[in-house]
Amino acid sequence: MSQETMKNRTLLYAYGETRGPQSDQALGYPQPPFTAKKGEREKISLPTDLQGVITCNDFYQLVTGRKSSRLYEEDPLCLKELSYLLWMTQGVKEMAGVAHRVTLRNVPSAGARHALETYVFVNRVEELEAGCYHYLPEEHGLERISQDPQQIAKLSAAYCGQTFFGGSAVAFVWTAVPYRMEWRYGTMAEKLILLDAGHVCQNLYLAAGSIGCGVCAIGAYEQDKADELLGLLETRGQEREEEMVVYAASVGRK
Ligand SMILES: Cc1cc2nc3c(=O)[nH]c(=O)nc-3n(C[C@H](O)[C@H](O)[C@H](O)COP(=O)(O)O)c2cc1C
Repeated sequence: MSQETMKNRTLLYAYGETRGPQSDQALGYPQPPFTAKKGEREKISLPTDLQGVITCNDFYQLVTGRKSSRLYEEDPLCLKELSYLLWMTQGVKEMAGVAHRVTLRNVPSAGARHALETYVFVNRVEELEAGCYHYLPEEHGLERISQDPQQIAKLSAAYCGQTFFGGSAVAFVWTAVPYRMEWRYGTMAEKLILLDAGHVCQNLYLAAGSIGCGVCAIGAYEQDKADELLGLLETRGQEREEEMVVYAASVGRK
């Protein structure tokens, strides 16, 4: 086994500094923002009346019937359905905390740090032009990142030739802004971020199942290509703003 593999194993031990005296929070640094700021972009508000969107409410059926789907119908999702999936995976239910305000969402997160960002590469969603969007959890909206006619080909290439991903109705991509978690948890942060990501994708599987859609989690991708599609290469090495792709999932109608 390679030394690199053995070194990476250390991530799985809980020996790291948790709220140690050296964490930036303990040192009095200001809390980082809840969401990655992208500058002035065109914003799209998402429907909040999600009545009627769920077609299966049977929890047992949703959990036991869950499986990864890589083949989808050509039918588009409607905007309400995309709104529902974003809400179920990262939606902010309320703000809490006194000294440090935190967002409470439909998924748990260590210390409510919520160090993940959601991007959607839209191919087939009614009322939404194809392109890449960034989810704004505090206002439940989207901001447009880019429109690229080569989107499907580039996505498939960045995600190890997985054409079902690039060609799905909506490709979800989750990035991490590590400093949001490191601010409190120091060297434990990276492990906690990855644990958080699992909760988010599981909610996507179950929520998609409840509206007749299928999902496939995606862990195979080329880091630089995936980051470049989101314009994240320029954040490399920036202590507080660095952001990178950590996980993804395809969604389509079954
Ligand atoms: C962290 C993670 C990464 C995965 N990455 C991929 C991937 O890159 N491509 C793929 O086709 N499936 C991927 N999968 C899906 C698994 O192959 C799938 O969950 C597994 O075969 C079990 O099948 P099931 O989900 O239908 O129960 C991934 C699943 C997880 C949880």
